[in-house]
Amino acid sequence: MKIYITEVAPRDGLQNINQIINTEKKIEFVNKLSETGVDEIEVSSFVSPKVIPQLSDAEEVFKSIKRNNNVIYSALVPNEKGLERALNVSVDKISVFTSASETFNLKNTNSTIEDSLSKFKNIIKISKESKKLTRAYISTAFWCPYEGKINPYKVKEIAIKLLEFGVDEISIGDTVGKASPDEVSELLEIILNDIHHDKIVLHFHTTYGMAMANVYVAYKNFSIYKFDSSAGGLGGCPFVPGAKGNIATEDLVYMLKRLNANVNVDIKKILMAFNVLEIEPQSYISKVINLI
Ligand code: COA
Ligand code: ZN
Repeated sequence: MKIYITEVAPRDGLQNINQIINTEKKIEFVNKLSETGVDEIEVSSFVSPKVIPQLSDAEEVFKSIKRNNNVIYSALVPNEKGLERALNVSVDKISVFTSASETFNLKNTNSTIEDSLSKFKNIIKISKESKKLTRAYISTAFWCPYEGKINPYKVKEIAIKLLEFGVDEISIGDTVGKASPDEVSELLEIILNDIHHDKIVLHFHTTYGMAMANVYVAYKNFSIYKFDSSAGGLGGCPFVPGAKGNIATEDLVYMLKRLNANVNVDIKKILMAFNVLEIEPQSYISKVINLI
């Protein structure tokens, strides 16, 4: 199976940094990422600009990027207002997001999990009528900064509801970056009993250094082939204090290539795209790029 990579740096990465990256740089970043071989780019979020001011230029970015026909351009959408904004600028794929932790969901979106789900039902319906692809994130799926360890059956229950709404895929997020390979195996054993692996995307953060090991078990033992990653290893949620970036795209791709996976992303082009931001990359491969 060909590996499917969603490059999330323009959203997960840029939502969490203090520097303001100007709109032109974001556009150049996305344009360069479009030529790296990644399958999807999560370009921005149509969320409240008061909550995430870093991404308040989502419309301008979407209007100005040069689209590659082989790439899907997606964005986060929290509610109908966000959906309307996203549809206005022809986003290809609508990604809604909830959490497996009630406390985290309240802090992140000011709504309970149940309320999020009832909002999403309609958002997914309208998105599908508008011929858009759809994704739902379940964040803090392993650990929550406020509630501790999350019960995997809770994740499964939410995933099944979202799939019943017709969502195309579920991205299971280790937002805290604390999942261990055994915890990933436990969750996948539970959910893959009822959900096809085609529907599952994994989204790891590197806080405790286990993201690569987590991808390894998911890919090798459970045939998961869709992963989220971030150029330069940027990323993090403002509501998870201390969490580190997403697994770096260059590290993920390097490992998958060494495992002979079918992955077609150019590592050097990823780092060249990242250079546009003038930020120090947080990845292993960026330190040894001259050796590969
Ligand atoms: N886009 C732009 N503005 C929006 C919006 C959207 N999608 N949704 C709400 N707003 C605005 C409203 O117009 C309103 O503005 P006003 O105060 O000028 O009238 C204000 O935000 C409050 O609206 P309300 O519907 O009451 O939302 P809320 O305050 O309950 O916030 C969310 C709910 C979901 C919009 C907000 O918590 C949010 O954007 N969260 C995103 C968090 C995030 O992106 N986290 C990282 C990803 S994991
Ligand atoms: Zn994330």
